[in-house]
Amino acid sequence: MILVTGATGTVGRLVAERLSGTGPLRLLTRDPRRAPLAGPGTEAVGGDFDDLGSLREALTGVRSALLVTTNPLAPGQDENFLTAARTAGVRHVVKLSAQAVADPGAVDLITRWQRDNEELLRASGLPWTFLRPRAFMSNTLSWARSVRDEGVVRALHGTSRNSTVDPRDIADVAVRVLADPGAHVGRGYALTGPAALSAVHQTEILGELLERPLKLVELSQDQALSGLLARYPEPLARALVESAVRGRDGAKAHVDPTVGEVLGRPARTYRDWAVDHLSVFRA
Ligand SMILES: NC(=O)c1ccc[n+]([C@@H]2O[C@H](COP(=O)([O-])OP(=O)(O)OC[C@H]3O[C@@H](n4cnc5c(N)ncnc54)[C@H](OP(=O)(O)O)[C@@H]3O)[C@@H](O)[C@H]2O)c1
Repeated sequence: MILVTGATGTVGRLVAERLSGTGPLRLLTRDPRRAPLAGPGTEAVGGDFDDLGSLREALTGVRSALLVTTNPLAPGQDENFLTAARTAGVRHVVKLSAQAVADPGAVDLITRWQRDNEELLRASGLPWTFLRPRAFMSNTLSWARSVRDEGVVRALHGTSRNSTVDPRDIADVAVRVLADPGAHVGRGYALTGPAALSAVHQTEILGELLERPLKLVELSQDQALSGLLARYPEPLARALVESAVRGRDGAKAHVDPTVGEVLGRPARTYRDWAVDHLSVFRA
């Protein structure tokens, strides 16, 4: 039995779709009615990272698990999950982490939380694999409304390059690792796209595909922070700005070959991602 947490989120949903029908699969979310459609052999269960009892139940009979936690302001969640996983005799935990953990210069709240989570898993005695993606290409979905309504992309540090990765590639790697842990146990995988692009480049690609001129408006740090404060609690908003400043200084431009090596095919490009999500940006 494989357990996928975060099954209603960006990566977990894609992993669930790929694994569904391949063998016994359990999807965990706080509200199982929102889980991706369950096929034969797939079940959705209710569970909360803050509720150890629900995790113990969800992990019963599980061989491998994908662990996706998202709240650095609730730091006990990974520990709860690992406690329940150890009790249940889980044999492999695949942890969605972040590439910044490997950069000693990254000390923002979100990266410190992910680093601590990795440390907990390493110390747990459970066999592990870390998936460490760069920023998801899908983060540019936050541009969709202003692109549709105004033909504008607003971004902080528009020329800083980031080797963003397609979430479908993260999911494809996760599926390989979950289905056949073997050589993947004890490895940390840097997951990037095939090129380091800036917001300026991504805006050009979107404009070309939409056959519509788009304008990039550079935000000041204060403007970016107030936008983020509308969506996140203040400590997270500040951590995201801190992380963007590191990106401006070139920390996120490295392109890693791991996606291609694990999957035996090239990583998807931003253009690939944009073509498949273009309708969201269309006026
Ligand atoms: N976005 C990026 O650019 C980026 C880059 C590198 C690393 N990452 C890492 O990727 C992870 C986020 O992945 P994602 O974008 O796929 O997540 P997401 O789309 O934000 O989805 C979060 C998932 O977590 C579930 N969840 C939230 N609170 C929960 C709780 N208390 N108990 C049980 N489930 C809970 C949600 O399910 P319900 O609401 O249905 O319960 C949902 O399925 C984070 O660890 C982040 O640090 C992200």
